[in-house]
Amino acid sequence: MDCEIIGEFRSVTKRFGSAVALDGLSLKIYRGINGLIGPNGAGKTTAIRLSLGLIKADAGCAELFRFDCWNDSLVIRGRVGVLYEKLAFYDNLSGLEQLRLMAKLKGASDSVVKLRKLLCLVELDESVHGRRVGGYSAGMRQRLGLAQALLGNPELVILDEPTANLDPLNRVKILELITFLNKEHDISFLISSHILPELERVCDNFILMNKGKLLRQGSIVQMFEKTVTTKFIVRVQPVESVMVFLKDEAYVEDLAVIDDCLHVVVRDAVLFRKRLPLLVGQVGASLDEVRMVKSDLETVFKSTVEGA
Ligand SMILES: Nc1ncnc2c1ncn2[C@@H]1O[C@H](COP(=O)(O)OP(=O)(O)O)[C@@H](O)[C@H]1O
Ligand SMILES: [Mg+2]
Repeated sequence: MDCEIIGEFRSVTKRFGSAVALDGLSLKIYRGINGLIGPNGAGKTTAIRLSLGLIKADAGCAELFRFDCWNDSLVIRGRVGVLYEKLAFYDNLSGLEQLRLMAKLKGASDSVVKLRKLLCLVELDESVHGRRVGGYSAGMRQRLGLAQALLGNPELVILDEPTANLDPLNRVKILELITFLNKEHDISFLISSHILPELERVCDNFILMNKGKLLRQGSIVQMFEKTVTTKFIVRVQPVESVMVFLKDEAYVEDLAVIDDCLHVVVRDAVLFRKRLPLLVGQVGASLDEVRMVKSDLETVFKSTVEGA
């Protein structure tokens, strides 16, 4: 992960009437691809709106590129592109006309050559530039939205649930495009999502939030570091005798025999690895294989949310 910090929230609180949308939220946004992850209602959209200076924090401090998100929002909006959760296009305009209109509004170059190039960059090829946006598929609309967010060469692009309304194939394609834009054009991203497994592959930095608070932040490695439980698959003979002993071990959460293998979920992986050979030795069994099952981000997230 690139360690350059380009944004930071420090103890940001935002209330809507009696509802607390952000509750002392602290997070860091790094140069690279950042995933803002949390269940519905976690406060992702509120955090995004606040970072763009569309709403003001009740307490705390939010900065992008060291500029205050509220006081310096004009400077920030000049350096940041946005794709909102709900796309609003003029259905009767063509893709090119729509983009040209947005370029004018944003004060970006509206040269047709440049705009066509931008459309091609998001993989909307020449044949669809002149077609009515009303006839675009969901995936094409999302690409057009991304092109719009890229107007004016932003350093950071913020995408609020960019894949939520797409089918699995188009989700993967949009994320591939984001990875390409990051690697080839050095554009950083902040992507919010409540769908975890797909972001797992693209993000350098994960920000897990729930109920307006940060649960955990870091690289994928750091996400798994403090995982509450770990699953192991153990091949051992005879399986029953070892199972009897493992049942009584305090750190064992769950135990099952599947296809002649022991599936063990433990709270303390280090202790389990130390104790297992001893137990196996005690009952005179033979240990053939111990394999740790890599849990995915979703598992980490669930256990973190539930543990919070
Ligand atoms: N404009 C608003 N007025 C009242 N409540 C709001 C408003 N915006 C958000 N909220 C509340 O704040 C919480 C966080 O919402 P939101 O930021 O939209 O979450 P997410 O994007 O993670 O689903 C929710 O409980 C939501 O109902
Ligand atoms: Mg939202």
